[in-house]
Amino acid sequence: MLRLLATGSHGLLGSNILPILERYYTVTPLDIEEWDITDRDAGDRTIRECKPDIILNLAAYTNVDGCEDCLSLADRVNAEAAGIVADLCARRKIKLVHISTDYVFDGEKDSPYTEQDVPNPASVYGLSKLSGERKVLDACPSAIVVRTQWLYGHGGVNFISKITQIAREKGVVEVVDDQRGSPTYTKDLAEPIRALIEENAAGIYHVANSGSCTWFEFAREIFDRLKIEAQLNPIASVHLNRKAKRPRYSVFDCSKLTRDTGFRMRPWPEALQDYLG
Ligand SMILES: NC(=O)c1ccc[n+]([C@@H]2O[C@H](COP(=O)([O-])OP(=O)(O)OC[C@H]3O[C@@H](n4cnc5c(N)ncnc54)[C@H](OP(=O)(O)O)[C@@H]3O)[C@@H](O)[C@H]2O)c1
Repeated sequence: MLRLLATGSHGLLGSNILPILERYYTVTPLDIEEWDITDRDAGDRTIRECKPDIILNLAAYTNVDGCEDCLSLADRVNAEAAGIVADLCARRKIKLVHISTDYVFDGEKDSPYTEQDVPNPASVYGLSKLSGERKVLDACPSAIVVRTQWLYGHGGVNFISKITQIAREKGVVEVVDDQRGSPTYTKDLAEPIRALIEENAAGIYHVANSGSCTWFEFAREIFDRLKIEAQLNPIASVHLNRKAKRPRYSVFDCSKLTRDTGFRMRPWPEALQDYLG
């Protein structure tokens, strides 16, 4: 079996996809305590010890509003360190899979974003992730950059656990109805990532569950399926007064993934049903 080393593996995505990827690869899951990706020497040491065939870079500074106040940390982890990982991979011919985000787009489009669309981030987080993509592909052109969005999964805090908790505690939940995207079940990223590796793909790929909704529509679907009777109110994003601007529209066109691997992402309601069990 090929050896896959994952960074940032204790996070939401890592804890959901690594158990699936273990079926196909010998996985070494590492997080910041074992390999802080900003530390080139630590990276060099780790790679010499583990001798991976593939590195899956899940490590990132993902506090979107926090990034607005911590520009240098966002840049160090999401951009500079991603470039370091890519450089280490290129020198040793290790296949790199790097994860990026829909926040590289400003959300001003009205039709699904393709990999050809020009990014224009509206937040520090998005800017740092775009810079990371560019550093990755400059240092390691054979890398696969998977852009994804609106992740939810098991463990940790996510949108679903947050709104169901508020519903239980307060009985009223306000959810934004002016941002449209594709909620994506973390586990659904494992197979397309594997397919991209198997095909020896390179470059940027959009990967998200198919179909789209607003956060409000997503919440309504969750409450309906869980038979939660709390009041659900649609609100505009401005009412949340968040530091970072979010894209108004960030639906992905994932046809490049299907064209290059044959893999088709399932609709988000089907994935949600699977998650809710
Ligand atoms: N969640 C989403 O909706 C979403 C959407 C699109 C794209 N993405 C991308 O998907 C990837 C995984 O995201 P996630 O949701 O799993 O994020 P997450 O839960 O925040 O996990 C990121 C992990 O990286 C670790 N980390 C932070 N700085 C590090 C460093 N310098 N060296 C090594 N590890 C470090 C974090 O540790 P600490 O917790 O100790 O900081 C955490 O365990 C990221 O690239 C993110 O940008 C996420």
